[in-house]
This record gives sequence, structure tokens and C-alpha cells, in this order.
Amino acid sequence: MSTVNPATRLGDLVRHRVPAQPAGPQPPRSPAVSLRGAGVRVGSRTLWSGVDLEVGAGEFVAVLGPNGVGKSTLIKMLLGILPPAAGEVRVLGEAPGRAGHRVGYLPQRRNFDASLRIRGTDIVRLGLDGDRWGVPLPVPARFSARRREARDRIAEVVELVGASAYAHRPIGECSGGEQQRLLIAQALVRDPELLLLDEPLDSLDLSHQGAVAALIGRICREAGVSVVMVAHDVNPILAWLDRVVYIAEGGAVAGSPQDVITTQTLSRLYGVPVEVLRTSDGRLVVVGQPEAPALHTDRHVEGGGT
Ligand SMILES: Nc1ncnc2c1ncn2[C@@H]1O[C@H](COP(=O)(O)OP(=O)(O)OP(=O)(O)O)[C@@H](O)[C@H]1O
Ligand SMILES: [Mg+2]
Repeated sequence: MSTVNPATRLGDLVRHRVPAQPAGPQPPRSPAVSLRGAGVRVGSRTLWSGVDLEVGAGEFVAVLGPNGVGKSTLIKMLLGILPPAAGEVRVLGEAPGRAGHRVGYLPQRRNFDASLRIRGTDIVRLGLDGDRWGVPLPVPARFSARRREARDRIAEVVELVGASAYAHRPIGECSGGEQQRLLIAQALVRDPELLLLDEPLDSLDLSHQGAVAALIGRICREAGVSVVMVAHDVNPILAWLDRVVYIAEGGAVAGSPQDVITTQTLSRLYGVPVEVLRTSDGRLVVVGQPEAPALHTDRHVEGGGT
């Protein structure tokens, strides 16, 4: 395990931008994400519509909801992979996809074959090369300054996420938690202003969930990076959250966790009785939240939208 305290390196992370707490008045940063009456369709099905959401610069927002409701689809829309079916969507003040170099992305369901020989640092380098799925091309010797700069930046983010001890090992030999940290380093390597993270705590045990949540929370708070994170369990990130978006079949509600994760709001959103319980240690348990039906037939039905 690395002994580096990530707190000491957060300043390095934002070297290209305004410090998180600058002296004197600063021009307002445009919202990281803004949705007005947004809707999305896959095939002939409308997943959700009429969604209003604003993620301020430097805010940490969680996207919650049952399986299949369209959380990953929201992230893909913000990346510009899927166009909105309705409404207005802006990402860092631009149309989705236009601010790609200012956005870091961690896709859902990342698994590396145990026999994969590519090293952790090469995985991080893919974020720098802008080609996450290919094999990094060697930089010709005449660009040695650029090569050195890239190597330094990779080492910097690897250290930031506490992965120095295993980053040179083949990724297939790293544990799920170690792979996750390296992928977060990949998302961070281009010094993004906005992180879009699709279930980064997936497949981690409780203590690693807490550690990765704290890492992301501190990158947000101390480096001023805006975070939109899809999560299945809000509890590991509750302490860091500014806002949550709860997506149900058809629509969504956004607001503070205290306002949204309540018996009343979730029952109204889902249209069935849902109970929110708070345990003695402050964890939230949502009881009776319906799972979205696996609507496979509706993809073949014309006009089957909601
Ligand atoms: N390209 C596509 N064509 C048709 N249907 C799609 C496509 N992509 C996604 N879907 C469907 O859209 C729905 C929402 O998918 P999405 O991946 O956004 O769900 P999710 O909320 O992220 O679920 P999970 O919690 O399981 O990750 C699912 O029913 C999925 O099968
Ligand atoms: Mg998903």
C-alpha cells in the first residue's frame, strides 16, 4: 500500500485551474451540468422525461434509482454519446460532448481478464491519450519532453489515488479495489473539471467503498472538481453529497439528500408506498423501492414510450 497522503497532492491536481478557495472575488464558473425539461429515449422507449437538474461547479451529486431506470443513460447523454430526446442539456456551459477534454469518465462494469498483461500505468495513460479502449501508441523519441511530462502526470495521479505500490503490475493481477483506483486515476489524468462516475463503488467491500468514496469526496471538496456519481447505495457517499437525483421509471426528483430520500418524496416518485428508515449510525435504508421491470419486449413495440 502507498503511504502517500492524498491530501498533500490535491493542489497538484488543479494546477491548470483557479484554486478551490481563491483570494478575492472570482467570476462565477458556469454550472457543471444543466438539464432543463430533459428527456431520453432508447429505441422506441422514453426512459425518463421532464428532468430539471443543475450541478453547480464543485458540487458532488449522486444519481440513484433501481436497475434499468436510465442512470447510465443519463451519463451517456452528458458525454454526448446519446442525444437528448427533449429539453436543453449543457455540460460545462457547452453542448454535451463539446467539453470532452474537460470531463473525466469512469464507465460502469469494468472487468479485466486475469490474464491481461497491460500494466496499471498504461490503463491510466489511456485517459491521457484520449483513447480509453485502444492500446497506447508509443510517443516518438523526438517528443521526449512530452513523453516525460505524460510520465510525470501519470505518476502524480497514480500517487494521488494511492496506487503507486501496484500500478506497474499487470492490471489483470490487481484486485477489484486496486483496479478501481487505477481507473479513477485514468479519469483524473487530464485534470478534468467534471467527473462522471458510473458506479465506482461497485464490487468493493465496505471498507474500500468508504476509502474510494472519501478519495472522490476530497477531490471534489479540496480540488473543486464537480462530481456526478451513479450509485446503488447512498450511504458510503452521504457525508460528501451536496445533492441527489432519484430516477424512477419516467421521471426524477433532485434536491438535498434530506429532502429527497424521504418516505414521502420517494413514495410520490414511485407511486407506491416506499419507506425510508434511518439506522442509529445515520445510514439510510429504503424499503419497498420497486425495481424497474425488465422491459425487453417493449423495444420491439412501436410507440411504446411512457
Ligand atoms: N442502446 C440501447 N438500446 C435499447 N435499449 C437500451 C440501450 N441502452 C440501454 N437500454 C435500455 O435502457 C434501460 C436503461 O439502461 P441503463 O443502462 O441506463 O440503466 P441503469 O439505470 O444504469 O441500470 P443499472 O442499475 O442496471 O446499471 C435498460 O432497460 C436498458 O436495457
Ligand atoms: Mg447503469
